[in-house]
Parts: sequence; C-alpha cells; structure tokens
Amino acid sequence: MRRRVLDLLAGMLCGAFAVVVLIARRPRADSPEPDGLKAADAAIRRSAVMGLRRPWTETFVAILFAGLAIAAVSFVWQSGSTDSRRMDDAVAALTGGDANRGQAIMRSAGCGGCHEIPGLPGAHGRVGPSLAHFPQRTFVGGVAPNTPDNLIRWIQNPPGVSPNTAMPVLGLDDRAARDIAAWLYRNTS
Ligand code: HEC
Repeated sequence: MRRRVLDLLAGMLCGAFAVVVLIARRPRADSPEPDGLKAADAAIRRSAVMGLRRPWTETFVAILFAGLAIAAVSFVWQSGSTDSRRMDDAVAALTGGDANRGQAIMRSAGCGGCHEIPGLPGAHGRVGPSLAHFPQRTFVGGVAPNTPDNLIRWIQNPPGVSPNTAMPVLGLDDRAARDIAAWLYRNTS
C-alpha cells in the first residue's frame, strides 16, 4: 500500500515535469514572426513567460491524470508479478525446485539439441518429442504417469524409467533435475 502511494506521488511529479516541458515548448500562433536576432530574442522571452499564461486548473488536472495513469500501470504491473510469484511457489511446492534456475541448466545440458521447447531460446531439436504443453502430457516417456517424482527421475536417469529409451543420462544431480522439472511445469503449459 505504501508503495502505491509512493508510485502515485512519483507519477504526479513526472506528470508535472511533462506539463512544464510541454508548456515551455508550445509555439504561439497569434504573433507574427519577426526576423533574425529579434526573432530569437522574442522566442526566448516568450518561452520564459508562457508557463504563466496557462490556467492553473488545466495544469492541475494534467498532473492528476498523469499520476492516475502511472498508478494504474503500477497496479497492473504489481498484480502481474504477484501472479508469477504464486506460480513459482506452486511449481516449487510440486517439485522442490526453482524454475528460475531451471532454464539456464537446460541450456547448458543441451536439452534443446534434441527437443523443441517453446520458451527456451534455440531449442528446436527433433531427436525427441516436443516438450510443449508438458504438464498436460499423461505419461513421461510413454511409460510412467506424469507426476513430479517420475519427471524428476526421468530427467536424472531416463533408462532407469524406460530401459530402451534413446534419451541418455545427462549427469544432472537431484537439485538440477528438480529445477528443470519446475521450469517445465511452469513454462510449457
Ligand atoms: C540426445 C538427445 C536428448 C537429449 C540431449 C535430451 N533428451 Fe529428452 N528425450 C529424448 C528422446 C529420444 C525422448 C523420447 C524418449 C522415449 O519416449 O523413450 C526424450 C524424452 C524426454 C521427456 C519425456 C517426454 C514425453 O513426452 O514423455 C522429457 C520430459 C525430456 N526428454 C526432457 C529432457 C530434458 C529436460 C533434457 C535436458 C536436461 C533432455 N530431455 C535432453 C532425447 C533427448
């Protein structure tokens, strides 16, 4: 709540600044332009006094709207980040892993060389199946029910789950497998 009030005040300050800049730069249509140095001189004097000609109510309303606009953007942004934090917590509770670490581990393990993985840059492999919509998949590797435990076991040791599988053991420890599982459940649905 305190954050929001601060956002609102910051928004109003930004708005006030924008309004002052706008006023100072507004050209005046009613006076004909004199030539040369006189014109430059007149322009400088005009821009200096123009701020005073603006009715203060207009300025006040502009500041108010700028503040409200910034507060609205901040509200939407904050509720978005609350949602994503909730999602992180949910996949952490399922897998015991940290989805935010999972992506880097998958890139260094080379998952994308064999799998198409939406959301993982450069992951367009065709050796294994696409991992799109993985949370909706019924089985892991076609043999074990798609539960967090089976997925974590699979990532660490695929032949341990399905002896004839072509997916190799990639030498990932338990924590890395949990982080990857968290990422797959969070990012591929
Ligand atoms: C050398 C190629 C290769 C690499 C590298 C590889 N996989 Fe696989 N993966 C496969 C193949 C092939 C299958 C299909 C296995 C099967 O069905 O027996 C598979 C299956 C899977 C499945 C089960 C998919 C399903 O629909 O049931 C998951 C999940 C998976 N891989 C995740 C990963 C992750 C995560 C990585 C990186 C840590 C990775 N794979 C790296 C080849 C690979």
